[in-house]
Amino acid sequence: MTAFYVFSFYLQSKNRMFSMVPNFFLPDSRTVLIPEGNFVFSDRKTFSIHVREAGMVQSPGFPNSPYPSNSFLQWRLRADPGHRVQLDFHTLILEDDCQKDFITIYDSLAPIEHRTLTEQCGYPHDSLSFLSSGNVMLLTLVTSDKKNFPGFRANYSQIPVTDQSCGGTLTTDRGSFSSPYFPSNYPPQTTCTWNIQVAKEKFVKVQFHEFSVGNESLQCPNDYVEVNEQRLCGSMLKTTVITANSNTMTITFHSDSSYVDQGFTASYEAFVPTNPCPGRFQCTNNLCIDIMMHCDGWNDCGDGSDEVNCKCDASQLMCKNGHCKPKFWECDGSDDCGDNTDEENCGKCKPGEFSCRNSRCVLEKFRCDGKDDCSDGSDDVSCDLALVLQQCSEFTFRCRNGRCISKMNPECDDVQDCEDGSDEENCQCGIRPYRSSRIVGGQASKEGEWPWQVSLHIRGTGHVCGASVLNQRWLVTAAHCVQDTGANKYSQADQWQALLGLHAQGQTNEWTVTRNIKRIISHENYDHLTYDSDIALMELDTEVTLNQYIWPICLPSSSYDFPAGREAWITGWGATREGGSVATILQKAEVRVINATVCKSLLGDDITDRMLCAGVLKGGVDACQGDSGGPLAVTSSSGRVFLAGVVSWGDGCGRRNKPGIYTRITKYRSWIKEASGV
Ligand code: ARG
Repeated sequence: MTAFYVFSFYLQSKNRMFSMVPNFFLPDSRTVLIPEGNFVFSDRKTFSIHVREAGMVQSPGFPNSPYPSNSFLQWRLRADPGHRVQLDFHTLILEDDCQKDFITIYDSLAPIEHRTLTEQCGYPHDSLSFLSSGNVMLLTLVTSDKKNFPGFRANYSQIPVTDQSCGGTLTTDRGSFSSPYFPSNYPPQTTCTWNIQVAKEKFVKVQFHEFSVGNESLQCPNDYVEVNEQRLCGSMLKTTVITANSNTMTITFHSDSSYVDQGFTASYEAFVPTNPCPGRFQCTNNLCIDIMMHCDGWNDCGDGSDEVNCKCDASQLMCKNGHCKPKFWECDGSDDCGDNTDEENCGKCKPGEFSCRNSRCVLEKFRCDGKDDCSDGSDDVSCDLALVLQQCSEFTFRCRNGRCISKMNPECDDVQDCEDGSDEENCQCGIRPYRSSRIVGGQASKEGEWPWQVSLHIRGTGHVCGASVLNQRWLVTAAHCVQDTGANKYSQADQWQALLGLHAQGQTNEWTVTRNIKRIISHENYDHLTYDSDIALMELDTEVTLNQYIWPICLPSSSYDFPAGREAWITGWGATREGGSVATILQKAEVRVINATVCKSLLGDDITDRMLCAGVLKGGVDACQGDSGGPLAVTSSSGRVFLAGVVSWGDGCGRRNKPGIYTRITKYRSWIKEASGV
């Protein structure tokens, strides 16, 4: 029997009011006209589950087919008395628009608004592990009439309430503590108090590393952390230090009855009041940093106090505001001083003029007129309109019919720019299952977040390198991964196995596909001394079926521009610090494309035009051993992800002013086409 129900919503943004009008029942297969704002649910189901035995709930059809339309489904979860319900999402991929499809979790058995723990849609990136305050929890899924996505799978279990009693007295000289159940979301209706008491002659300071507790507001009326009567709430991106002018400190954590967050981690330390940062530099915000970081051009304190009143040395330039910055940042197109002094007097063009890439100046009005005024074509790229140009240049996209167009990066941007449509062909790539968009300084990925990521295993050894999916049959990796080294015959295809759709090493699941390699094509110009042309292709012995966990990344045409400063993501299972061990869960980190001239000044003439530098010059974020062959991925303005580079080499990992070096894919676009047909 199919029943139709009508639901009415009052929508507000985050803390949405969700009020149900009495549902009325309609006979079978009758069409109903509904006023705006109301939803008709053709499917309404309730599941009741006791969670004593751990198990799993999932949206109907998961993972093989999308969840049903127009549904209202609820899962009532009960635990034994004296226990909490724990719900951990393994996957959650819904439509992006929270007014259409969403899940809601309640700290109650009925959908009571002020007991809402969370509401989620799209492909959330925050912690998706939830705990109830009592022994019940309700999970609901509401779906609209169109665009259905894979849905979710979540594991449930029960844990005794007494398992993690929080708070307590801390008397050692240093230590750490965190919100209950961190990194899971804290449960609602919880209060914990920590009393720190260090030796009499010392003072104590506490440092919050991660912090996400309630909404940002002045009085912190909902969830908060209170340190010596000062309330903290919201999300703090940077490390926060609070100092007490005594040897004691009281910290209270409180959560109210609705909307939970991940919470915090903190460490505390006793210090001698006359010398709060022994052997280190003390920032105005009381953080202690390495002396070497004082006046080095980077804001390491977070409040900039390590970069004021500095005497600049010979390798630095002096900004008008008194900051010192490395000389090589001068005229690199980004305002490093903060007052733009490093970008003035750069011999650029006059106002009203456009500076060509060959550093000529042409009048601004000649830009994007379809004529080559710079004489290198650079005045006719990055135009909003795609004009068909009289002449092609290395910066312009060439359509299949041989004509070139003036738009920057026109391929696969969902707009047809070439008369023959060739800019929108072969665009089954680069889409992640949601909206947006060996790693040092990264964080764990969500399953399915990087569907083109491949782990290349050597039989009997395990993970060795990364690679990216180009289509059902072809992968791209680094040439240095497939060279023979002594007894290791890495150049032989039969030594390798490719794992696609993998999330955690050693934990293959139903989405993981393993393939043997039929053929390896290493670039003929690969130079094992300089790592020039560090690119190779691998052909799988049998094709894989593409799905949300295995999906190609887009290849940029040779004219595609990845400008300096553009954000890029690196992913891999490589070492998480220099000389460290490899990661189990696929890691991700955000870096930026770095200007080639700056890169050459940092790393010397080893950098060729076929390499691309990316990193975080401040240090701490980079690819590392075991990430090689993996992608440097850039999201285009239309939301598709393009392969900008292949992880190739670096000077150590994550060192300051030592960006990572990647094989520049645009230089190898035609080679890939010739070698593999992709
Ligand atoms: N060659 C290394 C490998 O085989 C990758 C090094 C990347 N290093 C870096 N600092 N970005 O895994």
